[in-house]
Amino acid sequence: MITLQPSDRHQSLTVTIPPAGVSLQGTLQIPGDKSISHRALMLGALAEGETTIQGLLLGEDPRSTAACFTAMGAQISELNTELVTVTGIGLGQIQEPVGILDAGNSGTTMRLMLGILASHPDRFFTVTGDDSLRSRPMSRVVNPLVEMGAQIWGRKGNSLAPLAVRGQELQPIHYHSPIASAQVKSAILLAGLMTYGRTTVTEPALSRDHSERMLRAFGAQVDVDPETHSATVTGYPTLKGQQVIVPGDISSAAFWLVAGAIVPGSELYIENVGVNSTRTGILVALELMGADITLENQREVAGEPVADLRVKHSKLIACEIGGDLIPRLIDEIPILAVAAVFAQGTTIIRDAAELRVKESDRLQVMAAALTKMGANITELPDGLEITGGGSLVGAELDSYTDHRIAMSLAIAAMMATGTTTIDRAEAASISYPTFFDSLQSIAKL
Ligand code: S3P
Repeated sequence: MITLQPSDRHQSLTVTIPPAGVSLQGTLQIPGDKSISHRALMLGALAEGETTIQGLLLGEDPRSTAACFTAMGAQISELNTELVTVTGIGLGQIQEPVGILDAGNSGTTMRLMLGILASHPDRFFTVTGDDSLRSRPMSRVVNPLVEMGAQIWGRKGNSLAPLAVRGQELQPIHYHSPIASAQVKSAILLAGLMTYGRTTVTEPALSRDHSERMLRAFGAQVDVDPETHSATVTGYPTLKGQQVIVPGDISSAAFWLVAGAIVPGSELYIENVGVNSTRTGILVALELMGADITLENQREVAGEPVADLRVKHSKLIACEIGGDLIPRLIDEIPILAVAAVFAQGTTIIRDAAELRVKESDRLQVMAAALTKMGANITELPDGLEITGGGSLVGAELDSYTDHRIAMSLAIAAMMATGTTTIDRAEAASISYPTFFDSLQSIAKL
């Protein structure tokens, strides 16, 4: 039985997970895609007229986005998965909020919103977030926005929140981003909406392209050059409210893909998963490892590719990953590390230094937690080296308030002998509020 109890050490919940005595079986519906949920709320708020959103993620992160845009004049109905209605404010019309905008734990909310705020002249904004977000680098969006003429102030050379923004008329730029980051790309493209001329972002590898797709659907002109990984937005489009259908989040499905692959005898069917090729790196990596995953009922829903995924247990082998694949599975590396513990040979993950500036330092936290469970794992400056084939023992662990760490360690715990506790486990609700219920239902723990 999985139990959630008040933590002794933090004002939070500790989850206790016994080993999975049986194989995992069942059909899972996963929550809506986090990236698409944020963008639907933001573009709905900036558009004229009404936007409807089906399948919105009800996690804490989209709630932060909704609260921020409500404070700036958007009318957003009560959040639910069936149908959310956003009555747009109109591009250029956002109102100066009387209070501080709180992005909570959400890097996407803060970074994308900064592009919008910086480009709305004659208004003043202050933006903050929780302890984790206030320690994450904002210079990656502040610097290009300042290059466009933005006025932004903050701690540590204007790189850390809380940030203050005085909206300005901006100039278009061609920004060559040093990192493949959809948050950076999207912040600049969103600023480009309110900037006369053409604003371009070129990135070293292609990051998720949900902004480009959704901006086009709402009526903006967005030109992409796949050869150079560039996207260009033309300023001052007319954005019109749309019907958005949010597919299930492949980053949430990843926990079940790995669980089904490593727990002997398992077979799981995961319905309605977004399989946009900028997000399917986890499928590529698991296929390299010999996982038995099939895509069924492939279809397109509201401009995004979707499929149902079937995973069956199989023997896994180690793999080496890096380069352009990394942005396509950036959020899945913690759970991939768990898969590697059960793969024969040494898995090497490189070019993933970005993980150090996520909700926690995910390389350090995963290496420490899996070492405590008995895994053979070494932290590299930009990745992890994991020699699989051993076994895990239950341990007392901590999520460090990082949702993907909480869920990755929960899957590892099922494969450990003895019981594992994970402190601050409620972090899962950032992107997957029903995660532990689903775990209980398929694992009969
Ligand atoms: C996101 C982009 C990624 C990802 C994050 C969501 C987005 O971050 O890790 O969970 O919605 O644009 P980076 O752009 O920093 O890589």
